[in-house]
Amino acid sequence: MSKTFTIAIDGPAAAGKGTLSRQIADEYGFHHLDTGLTYRAAAKALLDAGLPLDNEQVAEKMAREVELGDLERDILAKHEIGEAASKIAVMPAVRRALVEAQRRFSEKAPGTVIDGRDIGTVVCPDAPVKLYVTASPEVRARRRYEEIIGKGGTADFDAIFEDVKRRDERDMGRADSPLKPAEEAHLLDTSEMSIEAAFQAAKSIIDAALSRN
Ligand code: DC
Repeated sequence: MSKTFTIAIDGPAAAGKGTLSRQIADEYGFHHLDTGLTYRAAAKALLDAGLPLDNEQVAEKMAREVELGDLERDILAKHEIGEAASKIAVMPAVRRALVEAQRRFSEKAPGTVIDGRDIGTVVCPDAPVKLYVTASPEVRARRRYEEIIGKGGTADFDAIFEDVKRRDERDMGRADSPLKPAEEAHLLDTSEMSIEAAFQAAKSIIDAALSRN
């Protein structure tokens, strides 16, 4: 088997892990997988087909058909798809199907950056680097609000704040693979950190691990 190096990045919605993961993948020339997109792709397939979101067998079938090669962030970004993704993400059969595909991806050489909610705990428990990226719910809601306004859209801060809290409850409260830091994860609280500062902090953790590897 080819030698590879996996960086597992977990954390709640809108904590900045997407941006950070892409920057890290660019820096080290590693492949990147946003596992949230795999749940979103399965959810979108169900919505598009007009199928129910509460039938585990049907949802598993859609999850098995997800192609990791053609996950397009723009198409999957819609709020409605995120909500549906978080509902089917509680189903063990859906998680099993997607985790299998994610683990295969994690073996790509020379290395991979995988981000999600359960990467350090379940998908890649042996990853040599685990980061848990978080920020307060207020800060995360504010960032999402500003992102929408920045794109010329309209947004309601209170509604976004409630949404962030509801999503956290669902992701952290589910029985199967709840969102939580792996024991050996490095915590990065970005509430009062710039993207550049978070990147530099992550880089020194990764460089130290690479030199031990
Ligand atoms: O990160 P995101 O908003 O794209 O994720 C969409 C949903 O998918 C999120 O509410 C929880 C779920 N998810 C998960 O359960 N496990 C992962 N590894 C990634 C995402």
